[in-house]
Amino acid sequence: MCGIVGYIGNRDAQPILLNGLSKLEYRGYDSAGVAVLEQDRIKISKVEGRLANLSGRLDHRPLKGSAGIGHTRWATHGKPSDANSHPHADMSGKFTVVHNGIVENYMALKKELERKGIVFTSETDTEVIAHLLAEQYQGDLVAAVRAVIRKLQGAYSLGVMTEHEPDKLVAVRQSSPLVVGAGQGENFLASDIAALLEHTRYVHILDDGDVAVMTPERISIIKAETGEPVNRKPVRIDWHADQVEKGQFEHFMLKEIHEQPLTLRNTMLGRINDRDEVSFPELAPAAGAFKDVEKIFIVACGTAYHAGLVGGAMIEKLTRIPVQCDIASEFRYRDPIITDRTLVVVVSQSGETADTLAALHESRRRGAKVLAITNVPTSSIARDADFVIPTMAGPEIAVASTKAYTTQLLAFCLFSIYLAQEKRTLGQKLHAELVQGLKALPVQVEKVLENANEVKLFAESIKDADSLFFIGRGLDYAVALEGSLKLKEISYIHSEAYAAGELKHGTLALIEKDTPVIALVTHMELYEKTVSNIKEVKARGARVMGITVEGNVELLNAADEICFIPPSLQLLAPILAVVPLQLIAYYASLALGNDIDKPRNLAKSVTVE
Ligand code: F6R
Repeated sequence: MCGIVGYIGNRDAQPILLNGLSKLEYRGYDSAGVAVLEQDRIKISKVEGRLANLSGRLDHRPLKGSAGIGHTRWATHGKPSDANSHPHADMSGKFTVVHNGIVENYMALKKELERKGIVFTSETDTEVIAHLLAEQYQGDLVAAVRAVIRKLQGAYSLGVMTEHEPDKLVAVRQSSPLVVGAGQGENFLASDIAALLEHTRYVHILDDGDVAVMTPERISIIKAETGEPVNRKPVRIDWHADQVEKGQFEHFMLKEIHEQPLTLRNTMLGRINDRDEVSFPELAPAAGAFKDVEKIFIVACGTAYHAGLVGGAMIEKLTRIPVQCDIASEFRYRDPIITDRTLVVVVSQSGETADTLAALHESRRRGAKVLAITNVPTSSIARDADFVIPTMAGPEIAVASTKAYTTQLLAFCLFSIYLAQEKRTLGQKLHAELVQGLKALPVQVEKVLENANEVKLFAESIKDADSLFFIGRGLDYAVALEGSLKLKEISYIHSEAYAAGELKHGTLALIEKDTPVIALVTHMELYEKTVSNIKEVKARGARVMGITVEGNVELLNAADEICFIPPSLQLLAPILAVVPLQLIAYYASLALGNDIDKPRNLAKSVTVE
């Protein structure tokens, strides 16, 4: 949420900053800006709207210099506007700052500064930082930064630059992610590794309370509070620069949907041995740690929460340990009953979602063990959890999550089998069927993708619908929730997911002639019951698209159209059934001409609560 970049070296900073911002635009795209030291004077260019607006402006008036900072914004304090865009400067223009997160006490700080005669030019919380830097500066930028952050409350990361010390960039991390990339004679700053991959694979992941001081030659990290040096080696990142490019695809979302066979294979790799046992090399040091677990909470937000709903069912089914799923922003405020025999599983693609991270901290404080299922092993959530299962989806750039979700489901299934092995709750036959079923998944997803055209026409036909319903029972209901979220977030068509049997208790009143209904019918033991619910909506005039397992052609007696998925075990069907729903959301949005990878009002990686 909001993206920060920084560069200091011998090359032209502007193109490097703009390129870095283009990789971070998915974190926020209300406005963008850069500040470059041009012959020891700070020059700022910033503008409301997409990065393309900023690039256009810089084409006319390029900024020349080899040090700079940049920002792409997702508005929190102050509407999107040129004035509220970052970087922000003090009144002299000699100090400039880019900021992610929220300064909670900014109003009080602002009033104090205004009393001293400081004139503000924006409505942001960030601007106070620039003025405070100017106030605190006594010839040492690092000392000024440390003095300023002592006054700030909240979660934030900062990039700071001053004309007084042109050979330096200073960065601060406080509960909002920030990484420093190490180059040769040049160094980089970014809120996300994706922005650095073109330049370096070696990054310092900053911890809370770290201040990084960067010159072209050196990166030094100190603790903000004590000034003590931090000796932390850079980490080598295995992601590749081409993973953050669209390649042959029109949108990242479509590319990521098509990557799923590969990302499923990668997430399975090394986790099923020759005897078909599931093992996690990452959990080896934790052997036996889950033996006494009596209760599991799964805590996450959005799509990751939907993955948790399926994951919870998998764990209960295979281990008989009771599982409760919670939305992270609710979890810690409802006084959950946690003991030292509780395992909390937090799920997060980015590993930086503020609510999920806060739930993790609260769970550990109350004595639970925390397992993180995350796509970013260097993230805050990965680092603060007791145990980590990385999903191997690679960088996910589209705001709408797709490949992260299916790899989360796969990770849950593997973990459920792993737990069941420890607890000896899984019979040999089911074990063998599950492993066989897992291994078949990548090819089965390829097959679903080959039939994309089946749902494309349907997707185009719903583009003018006012409202749409997704229905299903059991795991199909959990998948329906995800399908509905996907559609809403990128097509802006209102939709609701309903447990199929619940519809008649009120919501059926909303079904009228031609209301599109997507019915998931992959649960064979609930097949007849769901078909009855389809007939209920059909009788009110609905137009029904059924998603079901190959062979169920007689579903056409109830539904208007059908999309088939290959047969699988019930527990694995969600990984297949979600794919047509991802495609429906994608093609409906495409037909509407929406900005699919950057839907309005949203940003990836929500680092504010
Ligand atoms: C929807 C989507 C969001 C995220 C949610 C949690 O497509 O991507 O609902 O799932 O913001 O994000 P992570 O998984 O990064 O914690």
